[in-house]
Amino acid sequence: MFPINRMRRMRLNNGVRNMLTEVRLHPDDLVLPLFFDESIDSVKYVGSMPGVPTYPLSEAENVAERLHASGVNAVMLFGVPKHKDGVGSGAYSADGVVQKAIRKIRACSDMVVIADLCMCEYTDHGHCGIITNGKVDNDATLPYYGKIAGSLAEAGAHIVAPSGMMDGQVLRIREALDDACHEEVLIMAYSAKFCSSFYGPFRDIAHSAPSAGGRESYQMNPANGREAMSEIRLDIQEGADIIMVKPAMPYLDVIRQAREEFNTPIAAYQVSGEYAMIKAAAANGWIDGHRAMKESLTSIKRAGADIVISYFAEDVVKELQR
Ligand code: PBG
Repeated sequence: MFPINRMRRMRLNNGVRNMLTEVRLHPDDLVLPLFFDESIDSVKYVGSMPGVPTYPLSEAENVAERLHASGVNAVMLFGVPKHKDGVGSGAYSADGVVQKAIRKIRACSDMVVIADLCMCEYTDHGHCGIITNGKVDNDATLPYYGKIAGSLAEAGAHIVAPSGMMDGQVLRIREALDDACHEEVLIMAYSAKFCSSFYGPFRDIAHSAPSAGGRESYQMNPANGREAMSEIRLDIQEGADIIMVKPAMPYLDVIRQAREEFNTPIAAYQVSGEYAMIKAAAANGWIDGHRAMKESLTSIKRAGADIVISYFAEDVVKELQR
């Protein structure tokens, strides 16, 4: 007689289930994205991102103190500038919206400050680089990324996170940081950033949708997992301290493969569309939003991410601290 293989013992009661939990969410692993808009003077919301505020700069200290008190360990900053132009000069201005937000947050909290490094929120055409003859010009863009990196570091960013997917950007940014005596600043590279439909709600908040064309010539083809490993390998060679896979849930296999191939810490970005889907279904009563939030974040860690960037970060951290 064959004995039944008893797996259900493992789920005997809460204590046993807790003891045998393989992956846990921890406040230190979570990063909360924050948006600051130079042109507003009170908090603003967009319909596609319920519960995700855009703050005026005057709120920066209050927000930082609140998040810090809640136990949020790290924030990732995005700016919505008043003026846009062809070269995204607002991205590297010493008085740019993100530079101001960084200084305020650093002055009143110990949170890790990560600054997204891109041009799309700052260019009048909405692309992540300089346009030459109607095309996004990789090599003409790199010096600008260097300038942006220097300016974010000068303002006090601990980590810069280049998200523009230009070739050679990590090397160029490392050189710019080192030349400006900011050897201490880390680079979290958006290495495997896919050309995704899930960025839609972010572009509503950041007003960063391209005015013509898409981002297919720089962001990755969603079908390509092997190419993602090449992108990650190059970024590590160029000096990335942390690599990123983005979006997260549709690319859990890419996170897992990266975990197996590389020792570099891995961040995964649960992007705006992933958040919005959960919120929308929950608002309709179709899923339990609270459980879906925790299950989605746990699955991203189980796939192999060390760090998860998520719009749920504040909610989850609060719950974990209880
Ligand atoms: C800027 C950038 C984007 C996101 C992060 N950095 C938008 C884009 O590539 O269009 C998306 C984040 C999200 O959807 O939550 N390049």
